[in-house]
Amino acid sequence: EIRDIEQVKELIKSYPDFPSEGVLFRDIFPIFQNPSALDCLLNNLVEQALEFAKKQGSIKIDAVVGLDARGFLFGPTLALKLQAKFVPVRKVGKLPGQTIKFTYVKEYGQDVMEIQADAILKDEKVLIVDDLLATGGTCSAAENLVSQLGATVVLNQFVIELSDLKGRDLLTAPIYSILSFGAWIHHLKK
Ligand code: PRP
Repeated sequence: EIRDIEQVKELIKSYPDFPSEGVLFRDIFPIFQNPSALDCLLNNLVEQALEFAKKQGSIKIDAVVGLDARGFLFGPTLALKLQAKFVPVRKVGKLPGQTIKFTYVKEYGQDVMEIQADAILKDEKVLIVDDLLATGGTCSAAENLVSQLGATVVLNQFVIELSDLKGRDLLTAPIYSILSFGAWIHHLKK
């Protein structure tokens, strides 16, 4: 039985050179094989978000935006607990109807993220959630999409932050993460 977040952290497996050479991949799926670990992680995420909302003067979060694809593992649960709606930001070409897009530059090439234009209303307060903050490009694109719709990102929340990559510097709204890891192969096990 998993009781604390440090035990959850130990379940995350590290794979050097995946999906490409030089990348140290942190795999969160072993957590999902262990119900008590998943329960512990989800509770931590919810508690952190509630604490944030309280600190801001008990603000009401209207929407949780999850980022394609692993942000979808956490977004709906968080939204339910915050009594907010869940809205996906997806890689381009996956969402029907009227959408808005944002193109951002990645290490190799570029990527386009998309949101349904009517999913978030003007002046709504939004929490963005994803499994991982690396360079910050993906989340920064999501922040841009939310603000294009006239809404405000109040918090960016991550399960894992690769702090050496300084993704924080790219983001506008406050950032909360549950676990911190090193980004490089010599950081293995840390
Ligand atoms: C990963 C991760 C984040 C993003 C973080 O997703 O889940 O969404 O990269 O990287 P960044 O901070 O450098 O932008 P990936 O693109 O691998 O997609 P997936 O979740 O669909 O596997």
